[in-house]
Amino acid sequence: MTQPFGVSRRRFLKSVALGAGAVSVPAALTGCFGDDDDDDRDLTVFVFGHGVASGDPLADAVIIWTRVTPDNANGTEAKVAWVVARDEAMTDVVASGTEYTDATRDFTVKVDVTGLQPGTTYYYQFAGKDSAASPVGRTKTLPAGAVDRVTMAVCSCSNYPAGFFNVYNAMATADADVVLHLGDYIYEYGSNEYPNPDAQGRQPEPVQEILTLEQYRARYAQYRSDVDLQAVHQSKPFICVWDDHELANDTYKDGAQNHSDDEGDFIARRDAAHQAYHEWLPIRTGADRGKIYRSFDFGNLLSLHMADTRMLARDKPLSYGDYADSQGNIDIAGFSAALADSSRTLLGAEQQQQLLGDMIDSTATWQVLGQQVLMGRIMIPVELLAALGEIQAMLEAGVDASAKQAEVAQLLGELATLKATDPTNPRLTSVAPYNLDAWDGYFPAREEVLRRAQLLNKNLVVLAGDTHNAWASELYVADDSGNVLRDQGSVGVEFATSSVTSPGFETYVGFGDNVQLQAGFEGAVTSLVDDLKFLNAKSRGFMLVEFTQQKAQCQWLFVDTIASKAFNLNTAKTLVTRPGKGQRKLADA
Ligand SMILES: [Fe+2]
Repeated sequence: MTQPFGVSRRRFLKSVALGAGAVSVPAALTGCFGDDDDDDRDLTVFVFGHGVASGDPLADAVIIWTRVTPDNANGTEAKVAWVVARDEAMTDVVASGTEYTDATRDFTVKVDVTGLQPGTTYYYQFAGKDSAASPVGRTKTLPAGAVDRVTMAVCSCSNYPAGFFNVYNAMATADADVVLHLGDYIYEYGSNEYPNPDAQGRQPEPVQEILTLEQYRARYAQYRSDVDLQAVHQSKPFICVWDDHELANDTYKDGAQNHSDDEGDFIARRDAAHQAYHEWLPIRTGADRGKIYRSFDFGNLLSLHMADTRMLARDKPLSYGDYADSQGNIDIAGFSAALADSSRTLLGAEQQQQLLGDMIDSTATWQVLGQQVLMGRIMIPVELLAALGEIQAMLEAGVDASAKQAEVAQLLGELATLKATDPTNPRLTSVAPYNLDAWDGYFPAREEVLRRAQLLNKNLVVLAGDTHNAWASELYVADDSGNVLRDQGSVGVEFATSSVTSPGFETYVGFGDNVQLQAGFEGAVTSLVDDLKFLNAKSRGFMLVEFTQQKAQCQWLFVDTIASKAFNLNTAKTLVTRPGKGQRKLADA
């Protein structure tokens, strides 16, 4: 339908210059305001300084978002008109309305637009009574019924001070129905904490580590002032989950590595972080802001299950340090018992039951698990683990680690050679999890998911972020002793994305821009880790994942720099997997 308002007098609003240019206000939006709207409480003059966004699409609904930049001299509330149309000129209007917003929600506006058609592209726009119109956003509802193809752009770890958001810029024009953001959308650190922003002059705002609601809001406002982030939000609907840095580094259910008692009550900080997240992200907010796990159906092709492995129910991660004596010898028995403790959880009982129930109920070809941390087994020789731990300790202490880094490069080469010549050598068979913060630190929790997927004969594709590096693994079940049962076949695969900007192995392992050392590192690690089929340890980028009834294909796309606004985008790797028992492996496209 068009012009749905039936208002007798329409007033055309002023166009204002916003970003790239003047935005004209469609007649449909001006019609949202009548003369009786001259209410003193209204902020009648404002701009939309943080762009527009959409998210959590369903077959018949989508969230649309904007934020009013308030002018407190003129009142305390803003009345915002919104309109959804089939065309970019905003003439074929299908839904419209008005919303009030105020300081209690940081002047953000979120509307759950319903009554839409499946698999359809829509355009949306906001306006104030006597002020600007927002840019026009584009979004798309989920498909229904028989579906041939779905594409997703998948990203995580966008640290503003680390560099320019060139990856977002590239994602804005990527051929994708939807963007999946797997978390670390913001980082909580203060200036010069992580990483040093001097190179790009992108100092965080506020300058200190964020702890309060006002500070979390200010941090989101800074990120959303970035034109590349605005562009990707404007171009596609997002489906988001948070990771740890939306609150604090290495968060778990009742604490975080980067939270100390002198920073105040952890739960109050968490609730503030949750509130700001729900205000600023186009996510469908339920009664409990802490519960963001939810599933999306893309017709008969795939079901997407978005999980929270981080804040809701995660038990405190294990630490090798807690099992080491003063000489650094690890209590292997004690550590192994803790690792096998099935009471330690990542998802929590309620979320796990919901996830598994949704997987049982879904008859779609693909079951896609969108979540934060690596599920693939990254078990590495213990001597390598110890050496990497030494590097980390040296870097944290601000000590020159270059000699140790060179030692590790040599050790990796030695171990990779041994793997080819003497694979049962005890130096190779004595392994431990590389990252206890990932599913590797929660063995029984991982088995719950993998064994159920195997039992249900589902085609599982796990999507992960968090590490700042790109990975692809095959996923196999293990027995209760942790022995991997590869002869039972792969249950599914994992595609893990690099970061938008956050630094990865290149700074930690120390190969920097040395391409040969990088290739040596990646080659050695993929040969040492049995289920790992691809690793990129250096580049910033995103994944373009395409699902059809015949295959799921992942392309890793990388930008060549985040140090300048000019960049090139390259496809570094493409892997495919196919549905059906015995087919769920990784192969080159
Ligand atoms: Fe991150």
